Amino acid sequence: MSKFVSEREMQYQRECMQRVAAQNNGRTAFVDTYGCQQNEADSERMRGMLVEMGYILTDSSDADVVIINTCAVRENAENRVFGVIGHLVHTKRKNPSQIIILAGCMGGEASVRERIKRSYRHVDAVLDTTSFWRLPEVILGILEGDKTVAEINTVDGVVTPDNRIAEGMPVQRVVPHKAWISVMYGCNNFCTYCIVPYLRGRERSRRSEDIVREIREVVEDGCKDITLLGQNVNSYGKDSDDETDFAGLLEMAAHVDGEFLIRFMTSHPKDTTIRLLDTMAAYPRIARHLHLPVQSGSDRILKLMNRRYTAENYLELIRYARKVMPDIVLTSDIIVGFPGETEEDFRQTLDLVAEVEYDSLFTFIYSKREGTPAAKMEDPASPEEKSERFNRLIELQNTISMKKHSEYIGKTVTTLIDGEGKRGQYNLTARTNGGRLVHLKGDKSLIGKYMPVRITEATTWSLVGELALNDQK
Ligand code: SAH
Ligand code: SF4
Ligand code: F3S
Repeated sequence: MSKFVSEREMQYQRECMQRVAAQNNGRTAFVDTYGCQQNEADSERMRGMLVEMGYILTDSSDADVVIINTCAVRENAENRVFGVIGHLVHTKRKNPSQIIILAGCMGGEASVRERIKRSYRHVDAVLDTTSFWRLPEVILGILEGDKTVAEINTVDGVVTPDNRIAEGMPVQRVVPHKAWISVMYGCNNFCTYCIVPYLRGRERSRRSEDIVREIREVVEDGCKDITLLGQNVNSYGKDSDDETDFAGLLEMAAHVDGEFLIRFMTSHPKDTTIRLLDTMAAYPRIARHLHLPVQSGSDRILKLMNRRYTAENYLELIRYARKVMPDIVLTSDIIVGFPGETEEDFRQTLDLVAEVEYDSLFTFIYSKREGTPAAKMEDPASPEEKSERFNRLIELQNTISMKKHSEYIGKTVTTLIDGEGKRGQYNLTARTNGGRLVHLKGDKSLIGKYMPVRITEATTWSLVGELALNDQK
């Protein structure tokens, strides 16, 4: 079977969109997004399809179509979603023709599908991340009273992953100057704690020419900040005949004409190469930000996690990145309390964090996911011990973030004015090249423009600055 959804199948979806649009008179739709940027990117495509179907987008759960685009990575994320879905019983009672769809990563879990079928009967359909391109067909089916759609892409409630790439879906971007562009889907890594590979299928890379064409299109549309997405962008191209690897793809992207920055996430340390870091260093168009999740500083835990690198391998990459890009912003993900983590293992994580001095960290307490290998591992540490470790890690990182942020004070940096802010007197937000958040005052017409900003204050989480129109960039 081809790696791509055929043009004929996509044409059928377009026909379904037209048929829905023909019977639509001002109905509304809401896509509620949880989880990572990959889900944000998928939601923008679902919104694109809804707009083509004549829906007016809102952010109210009273909308005629409500799609919950869900995350399954940790248990509390799932519980939150069940709460949200439970609440929709009331909106559906008020508006019995309301269409409720559960989409995203939870849609790929057999246990979730069962629970929805059993206890959340007001949900009309469940889609997973590999089948949401069929949204038009699903909505048309529901409108025409075809109940079979609720089991789309499943056999006896078990997902048969589509595992193909759908090109050419319409897109409705939330922020016009920012684009999420997936370069690949799925994951082959099977880190032992992680459920994502079971839900998003195996790695499949888009054609480089399709990606570069999309970059050109968004830049022509005025996009200034483009993030290339994949669970592990560094394995881009390994599943294709195409010669291009991720560094090659970045190079192609950097040659597109226009004023914009390219970012990417996520990189797996085991596949992060010197060539990638050299490519970043060579092109000013590639943002000086590397999100390189380390997960733990203990080699013993890294092995149990099936991460396939050691703390020292990781530190070598960091040292090289800093050597070729002294101004690089480094961020990471860390899991505290992986099964069997001892105080000594955890101390090694603290040591690594202290050595790297990340600009910021995303920290998580381990959450057991049924079906993953780690779920069967002995986990003697108590929840109290884990949260105590978690707090120590956050405390250490806060000190480091504050120190890193303070280094910006007095400097003038080029930022992209991002949107409207909510922090006291500061009505705008901006992002530095490395992705740090800046609060400032200024005219709303600056949103979407690159501006020099002099940094005047720093906090643990963000910077404060003022427009520095007369300063040198
Ligand atoms: N593909 C990316 C992101 C995966 S999910 C990567 O490899 O980095 C984002 C983060 O969630 C992971 O980096 C990890 O730190 C965290 N995570 C994943 N599964 C988890 C679990 N079971 N419990 C706690 N955190 C988890
Ligand atoms: Fe999960 Fe690991 Fe894949 Fe990231 S690389 S999605 S953490 S299995
Ligand atoms: Fe969550 Fe799925 Fe992303 S599980 S973190 S939304 S890949």
